[in-house]
Amino acid sequence: MVCFRLFPVPGSGLVLVCLVLGAVRSYALELNLTDSGKATCLYAKWQMNFTVRYETTNKTYKTVTISDRGTVTYNGSICGDDQNGPKIAVQFGPGFSWIANFSKAASTYSIDSISFSYNTGDNTTFPDAEDKGILTVDELLAIKIPLNDLFRCNSLSTLEKDDVVQHYWDVLVQAFVQNGTVSTNEFLCDEDKTSTVAPTIHTTVPSPTTTPTPKEKPEAGTYSVNNGNDTCLLATMGLQLNITQDKVASVININPNTTHSTGSCRSHTALLRLNSSTIKYLDFVFAVKNENRFYLKEVNVSMYLVNGSVFSIANNNLSYWDAPLGSSYMCNKEQTVSVSGAFQINTFDLRVQPFNVTQGKYSTAQDCSADDDNFLVPIAVGAALAGVLILVLLAYFIGLKRHHAGYEQF
Ligand SMILES: *[C@@H]1O[C@H](CO)[C@@H](O)[C@H](O)[C@H]1NC(C)=O
Ligand SMILES: *[C@@H]1O[C@H](CO)[C@@H](O)[C@H](O)[C@H]1NC(C)=O
Ligand SMILES: *[C@@H]1O[C@H](CO)[C@@H](O)[C@H](O)[C@H]1NC(C)=O
Ligand SMILES: *[C@@H]1O[C@H](CO)[C@@H](O)[C@H](O)[C@H]1NC(C)=O
Ligand SMILES: *[C@@H]1O[C@H](CO)[C@@H](O)[C@H](O)[C@H]1NC(C)=O
Ligand SMILES: *[C@@H]1O[C@H](CO)[C@@H](O)[C@H](O)[C@H]1NC(C)=O
Ligand SMILES: *[C@@H]1O[C@H](CO)[C@@H](O)[C@H](O)[C@H]1NC(C)=O
Ligand SMILES: *[C@@H]1O[C@H](CO)[C@@H](O)[C@H](O)[C@H]1NC(C)=O
Repeated sequence: MVCFRLFPVPGSGLVLVCLVLGAVRSYALELNLTDSGKATCLYAKWQMNFTVRYETTNKTYKTVTISDRGTVTYNGSICGDDQNGPKIAVQFGPGFSWIANFSKAASTYSIDSISFSYNTGDNTTFPDAEDKGILTVDELLAIKIPLNDLFRCNSLSTLEKDDVVQHYWDVLVQAFVQNGTVSTNEFLCDEDKTSTVAPTIHTTVPSPTTTPTPKEKPEAGTYSVNNGNDTCLLATMGLQLNITQDKVASVININPNTTHSTGSCRSHTALLRLNSSTIKYLDFVFAVKNENRFYLKEVNVSMYLVNGSVFSIANNNLSYWDAPLGSSYMCNKEQTVSVSGAFQINTFDLRVQPFNVTQGKYSTAQDCSADDDNFLVPIAVGAALAGVLILVLLAYFIGLKRHHAGYEQF
């Protein structure tokens, strides 16, 4: 697949256009369920594939793509009755099952949830899995569609939870079909409303961890560390990780809603540790210098990449976010913490206080724009010195010329 970035309109996010050259492997499915009177009651057509990460017996991680193996059956799919809502149930490959649930309200129906199960006990797909057994991921969707409308979503939708990434595209679905006729009124998903889909060009919005392209500003989250019942460390920030491997940069926005914080507070060091399903740990270690200032001294990270390998790096000789003890450090504009050549953290709307937090609130902030003012001082001094130097040189050359001219006269 070849991807281009097109028309980066300010504020609109970036649009990624991919020309599908090689065949994308997927399950291309179609289901036309009929009721007892042979009238269509549920219609669905869609493409999907899955990547599953699992731990192997030698403690490393592997990923497999589940895209086109095995026969497909729709056993258990129902149109719904008084007790149960409609359901699409699909079985494929060895031991995979997939269920989508629907429900109805006064003027809408909704796709409530998707449940995907896989069996790591299956030795052909997961030959060296450490734990054998059936695992299930449930995704709550709650997509509301007007009753008697056909839902369409050609854009790629990516669902990511635990060890599973689910891809869906070219989706058409209608539950509660009336009078046996699939509707001609289409209800588009938000992604289709904002993108233009040309016949041979597949337009998608970059997904959280799979697309190595610059992306929107990350959402800011507030993280805290407690010491007993008291908050001892506060950090509010939008975080974007930039991992460069084999000369390719992957940019990952951290979702604060699925990221947890822990840590510890001591008199001269403080630790903020973030975790999520893809971040094993991301440690920020703060230290005190000269007994009156704090700064970010160390970053230590370990995270799972999409291909299943683990990326780890640490640097304990950093010097960022410097501010007086008893205050907080603030920076709304984008800043970069360069941990190594291969790992950078871009921060947005940052405010952090690793020491002396009182009553769970930030103290007065030292703003990073003050850093900019400090920059101006050396620049001004440098410019003045350069000016003096030029004057001295001018004076020297003028003097030399006069002297020389004087000789010629004699
Ligand atoms: C699975 O689907 C995604 C989205 O269309 C695609 O990028 C990827 O290449 C597919 N996986 C395989 C193995 O074809
Ligand atoms: C569908 O599932 C039921 C119960 O799980 C089973 O009895 C039946 O044989 C299955 N039908 C097919 C066609 O697989
Ligand atoms: C879907 O509905 C079935 C009953 O029809 C229920 O057993 C199952 O828990 C539901 N799945 C989810 C994810 O809500
Ligand atoms: C279904 O048929 C009934 C009676 O024939 C009609 O009143 C109703 O408008 C039809 N509904 C739709 C969505 O076509
Ligand atoms: C990511 O890092 C690479 C290499 O350092 C750099 O060229 C690129 O501009 C960075 N991207 C972002 C969004 O920070
Ligand atoms: C995962 O990708 C990285 C960078 O592309 C590569 O260095 C690493 O070897 C890959 N790991 C596996 C298990 O494929
Ligand atoms: C980073 O964290 C790991 C695991 O906690 C630890 O083994 C390692 O020593 C740390 N590295 C640094 C430089 O602190
Ligand atoms: C730590 O960084 C400073 C300045 O960035 C550098 O002078 C020093 O050599 C570094 N120390 C180590 C152990 O890398």
